[in-house]
Amino acid sequence: MEDSMINVLKKYGQDHLLRFFDEMNMRQKEKILSQLREVNWQELDILIHTYVTNMPETIIPPDIKPAPYFPAEPDNDDRKELYRTARRRGVELLRKGKVAALTVAGGQGTRLGYDGPKGTFQITPVKEKTLFQYFAEKIIRTGRKYDCPMHWFIMTSKANDSQTREFFQKNNFFGIKPFFVHFFAQGTMPAIGMDGKVLLETKESLCLSPNGHGGTLLALKLSGSIAQMRQLGIEYISYFQVDNPLVSVADPLFIGLHFMEKSDMSGRMLAKTGPFEKLGNFCLVNGRFNIIEYSDMPRDLAEMREADGRLRFISGSPAIHMISVDFVEHLTEGDKLNLPWHRAEKKVPCIDEKGNPVKPEKANAVKLETFIFDALPLARKAMILEAKREDEFSPVKNPDGVDSVVSCKAMMIDKDARRLEKAGVKIPRNDKGAPDCVIELSPLAYLDDEDISAAAAARPFKVPERGEKVYFGDL
Ligand code: UTP
Repeated sequence: MEDSMINVLKKYGQDHLLRFFDEMNMRQKEKILSQLREVNWQELDILIHTYVTNMPETIIPPDIKPAPYFPAEPDNDDRKELYRTARRRGVELLRKGKVAALTVAGGQGTRLGYDGPKGTFQITPVKEKTLFQYFAEKIIRTGRKYDCPMHWFIMTSKANDSQTREFFQKNNFFGIKPFFVHFFAQGTMPAIGMDGKVLLETKESLCLSPNGHGGTLLALKLSGSIAQMRQLGIEYISYFQVDNPLVSVADPLFIGLHFMEKSDMSGRMLAKTGPFEKLGNFCLVNGRFNIIEYSDMPRDLAEMREADGRLRFISGSPAIHMISVDFVEHLTEGDKLNLPWHRAEKKVPCIDEKGNPVKPEKANAVKLETFIFDALPLARKAMILEAKREDEFSPVKNPDGVDSVVSCKAMMIDKDARRLEKAGVKIPRNDKGAPDCVIELSPLAYLDDEDISAAAAARPFKVPERGEKVYFGDL
């Protein structure tokens, strides 16, 4: 077996990967061989020539227009009626169990620098619930509200799959019946040195990393999850990222509009904070919806403004999608899906030719990833709905600063404060207008405004004092 593998590796100039083979025991030999067998060497060789030893040219299409979208609030009577109907449709679909939640949690979370799957990070401002628990509670309450428990699919990666499953087990699945929680692991890609050689992490293991959130679609197919969804009668997927606790896990309006528009793939958009905010840009290219990465967006387009001063390309993507099960099946027919690859230069710890560990101080490797939003132009029909950033998006990427633990907690408090104020609760605010207290609403009790106003009508809420920490707990 290793003979044929050596020949394949030689053919593609990668036989250094078996350099330590003769000194390995059987278990180590089996380990590296099984990793090597999983790689499609012919395809990888082409990718290395295209993205590593040569720099790919980013081709920006000549005719880019801003993408049309439905505004967050209906702006005329027809839209008001449309949104009312869409909300009803969304609720009907949830009542019939046609919508599953899907959390992508396979990333490495390198910027956060937290040791463990990101979903196990404690984020809520008072109770310090983890991201997974917070989502679990939203999902439980959605199921109770619509009398139909929601299925939850969680994409892990090989590196964090067993830790993630153990975490759920240890926490009793946060009260969800395990039947409704489905884990599936995404594919991996080897990290490639700048010279085009695949890197070894140890003598018996390649440097492997998850293949990007675009890997979700093929992983859904190859893991059998999409077939399972079919069996369970699920037709629509509510897709969100593990590091965005503000997101609605199942928004009836978004679900209903996706359904009524017969969309294959839909996205929420939000108004960018500036021309260079690090969000993908929703655009129309040759009449098709596309997302152009912030780093690929030509500067003049990014900075272009309308007569009223608003950015012309205002629509940023917070990576919140509705995806039809039909569409995933269609895209992954034949167990294949070709999404474009994106290259990123990274510092990847590895071993050198003598087997000594190397901790690089500058980028030494290229990682290749595909992105979920590259499926958007493949949709036969797509739809975009505006989201209010303060209600739907606060990603936990960094320990502090922009898109951080600190900013996310502040936004969680602010959102809950606004929701309580809507129900007539007085929240102390400081001279900058920010809440002057630390509050947290449990999603189990207060999933949406309806839940809060019903509770407020039944009995008065506690009014937080200045500087106080208050948890508005489970009913
Ligand atoms: P990011 O691109 O922000 O990556 O992922 P990350 O791994 O969380 O963080 P950094 O860049 O290493 O600091 C956005 C979302 O996509 C998921 C992540 O788990 C997160 O929910 N993701 C990313 C995957 O599920 N798989 C991947 O291969 C990459």
